[in-house]
Amino acid sequence: MSDRPRPPRPSSVPPTSSRTPTQGGRRGRLSGKRIALGVTGSIAAYKAAILARLLVKDGAEVQVVLTRAAREFVGAATFAGITGNPVLDDMFDDNLGGEVHVELAQDSDLIVVMPTTADALARFAQGRAADVLSAALLCATSPVLLVPAMHPRMWSHPATKRNVATLTGDGRAHFVGPTSGEVASGESGVGRMAEPEAVHSAILAQLSQDALAGKHVVVTAGPTVEDLDPVRFVSNRSTGKMGFALAERAAQRGAHVTLISGPVELPTPYGVHRVDVRSAVAMRGAVWQAVGPDLSHADALIMCAAVGDYRPAETHSSKLKRGDSGLSLELVQNPDIISEVGAARQGKRPVLVAFAVETATPEQIVENARGKLKKKCVDLVVANHAKDSFGKSDNLATLVGPVDDLPLPQMPKLELADRILDWVLARLSSTATSETPRTG
Ligand SMILES: Cc1cc2nc3c(=O)[nH]c(=O)nc-3n(C[C@H](O)[C@H](O)[C@H](O)COP(=O)(O)O)c2cc1C
Repeated sequence: MSDRPRPPRPSSVPPTSSRTPTQGGRRGRLSGKRIALGVTGSIAAYKAAILARLLVKDGAEVQVVLTRAAREFVGAATFAGITGNPVLDDMFDDNLGGEVHVELAQDSDLIVVMPTTADALARFAQGRAADVLSAALLCATSPVLLVPAMHPRMWSHPATKRNVATLTGDGRAHFVGPTSGEVASGESGVGRMAEPEAVHSAILAQLSQDALAGKHVVVTAGPTVEDLDPVRFVSNRSTGKMGFALAERAAQRGAHVTLISGPVELPTPYGVHRVDVRSAVAMRGAVWQAVGPDLSHADALIMCAAVGDYRPAETHSSKLKRGDSGLSLELVQNPDIISEVGAARQGKRPVLVAFAVETATPEQIVENARGKLKKKCVDLVVANHAKDSFGKSDNLATLVGPVDDLPLPQMPKLELADRILDWVLARLSSTATSETPRTG
């Protein structure tokens, strides 16, 4: 969308000049994007303000449209304050003039309706046009994201199902959620609105023009857990945050993402296909399944999981009893998944990224990573110290590649994820002969 010439801003949609200086002109992943945010009458409407804030922070210009019912739940001043744009709610507002719904539709790169009530769904499915939002959707040529929020019985009603099927069948709207969980009444079921962060991710994925779009990126995350008996196991301190950050950013940048995760306490990022595993052997099976036996199913494999090097030689089916003396555990080696894939790879695909978490000095960590790069036949090793990475939201890492090392400053894991994905992208685009491999 950003490539097309911008039409002059329509007369009836409030001009950008009404923005406050702090809100206009932010640089971000959505800078230059115009997003219409429709808000309909649900208790969940207050969460639309959080989404508006995320979008503005990311550089988007946001135009909010409230339905009459939405005004019972949230105030226009909140949205005007966040977006810097007066809120639209009346098609016949004397101050606007012109066809506000037509102009809004043609001026938006994306229309998102959060929350979307059952009634709004029915109106959109029928093609009604009695309010600004419904009429704008009828005119829309840009992508439309609907974020339903309603009582589970409303969501599962045949009438709502028909409306969703109609909208999906028309190919004019994508749905984000609803999810399963507690709704406003305190009851539980499917109907709970997707959280603002998930909707933000969906918007990024929808508007992404990143060269990663359409690529299949396989990411492993978290620890592996090796059972000794039904109550004891051998594992490590990985929380999965780095792998989940990679999966989240890759999906937001338009990639198809398979996330193979050991046991962690993290929600699945929006748009990511998640495969849960427990042991290293199970992770190996899931990785081969995702990349395909001839490695042709993936463009990149990022092995971020802390795969246990060893597992108990024997797993007991009942709890081991305490004896009179000490106990020696025999451990056997786990498969080295990234080495297996590295050894099987003939050409340049998939791009292989390994992680090296160590407890040595920074110099030793980088030196060890160089060794790992060669030994495991991978393209990049992300080297970091356990104290800087496990469980933290930030990380301090060095990207060790075939040509040189790139020491990065401490940064949030989401940002580091972007740096790694940028490297992967450059590698995907580079020709086979353009690099001088490291020697020595
Ligand atoms: C307290 C309260 C909460 C409501 N929450 C929802 C809701 O979550 N989802 C929904 O579909 N309708 C909900 N409704 C009903 C809608 O507000 C009502 O259908 C309204 O006409 C929707 O108008 P709109 O789609 O134009 O915003 C709620 C109503 C009330 C009074």
